[in-house]
Amino acid sequence: MIDIGIIGAMAPEVEELISLLGDHRTARVSGVDYHEGFLEGKHVVVAQCGIGKVYAATSCEAMILRYSPRLIVNTGVAGALAKGLVPGDTVIADRLCQHDMDTTPVGDPKGLISGTGKIYFDTDPRSVKILTEEAAMLGMRAQVGIIASGDQFIASREERDRIIREFSASACEMEGGAIAQTCYLNSTPCVVIRAISDSADGEASVDYPTFLVSAAKKSAALTRALVRRY
Ligand code: ADE
Repeated sequence: MIDIGIIGAMAPEVEELISLLGDHRTARVSGVDYHEGFLEGKHVVVAQCGIGKVYAATSCEAMILRYSPRLIVNTGVAGALAKGLVPGDTVIADRLCQHDMDTTPVGDPKGLISGTGKIYFDTDPRSVKILTEEAAMLGMRAQVGIIASGDQFIASREERDRIIREFSASACEMEGGAIAQTCYLNSTPCVVIRAISDSADGEASVDYPTFLVSAAKKSAALTRALVRRY
């Protein structure tokens, strides 16, 4: 059994963690490489799943079925929704939702995930506590809040405001909600860590490439701290 499974969508979000693995071995499933090894004294598996909810869910499911991790961590970057968040700040999700899930025409509340009766999936409270403490020790500005996921890069004030209004989310990205749902379906604890790369508004297309790498590294550093303490 593996201690911790780590999933990031893109190379900058996971490549440093993969490079640090001791006793590194790789297995390929459905086009995704699962990097197994030792990090901070823990037996981990790290995968770069690709962008969006389907890649996130399929690779999370494969990771759980093949490796049975005790915890899944999703690390990466996000657009800021909460006031005061700037690039490099981190958001630790205590709950996640899917802002593009909408069966309201048949009478459901916005964001309801059919079959679960839920709009929000909780993360592992112990991991949230450890991450909050470690962020402070690393001198990172961190806030705990809701992360909203969807198959859209949010880059307009209208869409940004809609997600804040409908889901009270602090940050938006494209995988965490799918990973949280998959973990819920498998009774596997999870947590999602995101560092801010942009403000999900009209400036996002310019800010995102500027801050992607530095933000991704911050989230990975916090992930590493969690692995050490977990
Ligand atoms: N990841 C980083 N920034 C994002 C944004 N603005 N929308 C969706 N995912 C993101």
